[in-house]
Amino acid sequence: MKIHLIAAARPNFMKIAPLYHALKSEKWAQPVIVHTGQHYDLNMSDVFFKDLGMPEPHIHLGVGSGTHAEQTGQVIMAYEKVLFEKKPDLVVVVGDVNSTAACTLAAAKINQYNGQRTTGQGYNRRPYVGHLEAGLRSFDRSMPEEINRLVTDALADILWTPSADADENLTREGISKDKIRLVGNIMIDSLEMLRDRIQAQPTCNEFGLKKQAYGLVTLHRPSNVDEPQKLKKLFDLLARISKKIPLVFPLHPRTRKNAANMGILPELEESKHFLILEPLNYIRFMNLVFSCRFVLTDSGGIQEETTYLGIPCITLRPNTERPVTIKFGTNRLCELDNLEQTVGGVLAEAVRRECHIPLWDGKTATRVVNSIKDFFN
Ligand code: UD1
Repeated sequence: MKIHLIAAARPNFMKIAPLYHALKSEKWAQPVIVHTGQHYDLNMSDVFFKDLGMPEPHIHLGVGSGTHAEQTGQVIMAYEKVLFEKKPDLVVVVGDVNSTAACTLAAAKINQYNGQRTTGQGYNRRPYVGHLEAGLRSFDRSMPEEINRLVTDALADILWTPSADADENLTREGISKDKIRLVGNIMIDSLEMLRDRIQAQPTCNEFGLKKQAYGLVTLHRPSNVDEPQKLKKLFDLLARISKKIPLVFPLHPRTRKNAANMGILPELEESKHFLILEPLNYIRFMNLVFSCRFVLTDSGGIQEETTYLGIPCITLRPNTERPVTIKFGTNRLCELDNLEQTVGGVLAEAVRRECHIPLWDGKTATRVVNSIKDFFN
């Protein structure tokens, strides 16, 4: 059985790696990694493949950056050609990036052309689509990711969810229960797979950081970093916070580009308390997560990883599609106006607590593999 695993952007790589490894050890499965090229810098892509023990992508669409329509459209066009030629049985998409929705659309519609226009060979039945990390909802349609989640979940044939709230969202939207499988959180599989190497990494020492005495910052959402005035205010606040506790900030290319355009990058890079870094590979980054006092982020995955590890997380967003991280975890939402106060509150709290979310246990890939077997039987 030919199974395409769609890799595209940084947060996807740790979601497909455990599944790739689990499928690789099954005789009936032929996992094929398809990289759309949404992320393409060495430190946003290749280094993750290396850390996660994945081979180079078997198929690379080389799409790159663009507006939403450009990027989504380019992926659909490029992937449709691959579908006609390779005819996979199953397409697995993960997460909520533009490539996730684009590859789902390409696969869901392909039988309508029956392949005649491109290859003349026909396509008897379109491939099935499985969405891993289905059912998450922020209920905020100004987020591009929310649109991607809605489109993908409406079209996918198998919906693998990370937590019970996701099942509820899907059934509320009228999706048949037969399609939904609660499998747990696949990112925890990657974390457990690499835990020993993460803990053995000297990243923390390398930057002269004392354990649990620094904050780790990752911010890249357009709503936080695209508007110059807001970004300036954010950096001013971070500079003030960094006088109380040193901050480490690996800059996402979007944030770096915006800071450079505003002319504030050199000032940030020279700051004494504020350590600006290039994006880090998975193992080095996770080492900084393991040892920090708190994380300040607008990423989705980091809200989950910190919850699992019991590390305080401040999410600079008005909402989250991962409410379990607030209900059962260490996450809290915050906006710019109460950022300093929220950090102060976190610093005054006891350091860690244990969090247990059902099926966040490092065995999600095995459950997905079993679910694929069930589906095709
Ligand atoms: C994308 C996802 C977002 C995810 C994030 C993780 C969508 C809509 N957004 O946002 O959900 O949280 O990835 O990083 O799919 N760039 C580079 N090098 C790269 C990649 C990007 O320089 O390897 C720069 C380009 O200027 C590009 C910009 O970053 O235009 C944004 O990249 P893009 O993939 O469009 O969105 P992200 O902000 O990374």
